[in-house]
Amino acid sequence: MSQIREIHDLEPDVFEREVRSFDHWFGAVQDYLSDLEHGHRADIAADDLAPDEVESLTTALCNYAVAETAALEASSGLVRIAPNRSSMIFLATQVVDEARHVEVILQRLEDIGVEDPTAEIERRATPAMLEFRDKLLHLVDTKQWDLAIFAQNVSLEAMEFAAFRAHASVGDPVTVDMLERMLRDERRHIGFGENEIARRLRTDPSRRAWIELVKNELEAFALNTFEHTAKALGVEKDTITKLGRDYREAVRRLGL
Ligand SMILES: [Fe+2]
Ligand SMILES: [Fe+2]
Repeated sequence: MSQIREIHDLEPDVFEREVRSFDHWFGAVQDYLSDLEHGHRADIAADDLAPDEVESLTTALCNYAVAETAALEASSGLVRIAPNRSSMIFLATQVVDEARHVEVILQRLEDIGVEDPTAEIERRATPAMLEFRDKLLHLVDTKQWDLAIFAQNVSLEAMEFAAFRAHASVGDPVTVDMLERMLRDERRHIGFGENEIARRLRTDPSRRAWIELVKNELEAFALNTFEHTAKALGVEKDTITKLGRDYREAVRRLGL
């Protein structure tokens, strides 16, 4: 607690450097990533999943794998075009987080009996998810820093946040434990994205129109992917509506 107060007493630029550092990252993840087995607590008894549960869980995990791999590729590409060292360092911590997410998802697919996760991911990825991935990677490849940060650290992260929370409301205990630990990482990534976009809009208001354009382009793909996954998992309609609203709210907080 006192550590949190201390960090908030720092000057804004020192604070920013501090929260984007590996020191901060280590402190944060030690709390929830120590002593795990494949990204979840080892002592949780795995449910015996019925065939239809395996089927819907496989589809959800395959789509998460596409999203997490896209975030891994995009965040590593963004290191190259980051405008300063504190952003580079933060993105390096994000690369590690996203690589871990990819790893634990692939492991979970194997644990529920998927023999060839790579082939299964290709087979089950939804068109909306693939379209979102391509658009994000295009923004990174064309070095559009603020638009790519918006696409990844606001739009994609907010979509994953909604999807994981919806899944956590109906999932089996092992998957839920794994997702809840990933959610802690995603929250950090969204914090960076919101901070970066808010600053960009403050210092260069002319970027608003461009960011809004990307927002409008990606929103339908993000919501479509989220709703598709949530429905397949049997999430209640009210929860889907509420989390869809949360997704829009995360974007609206930036005044977009
Ligand atoms: Fe992730
Ligand atoms: Fe993330």
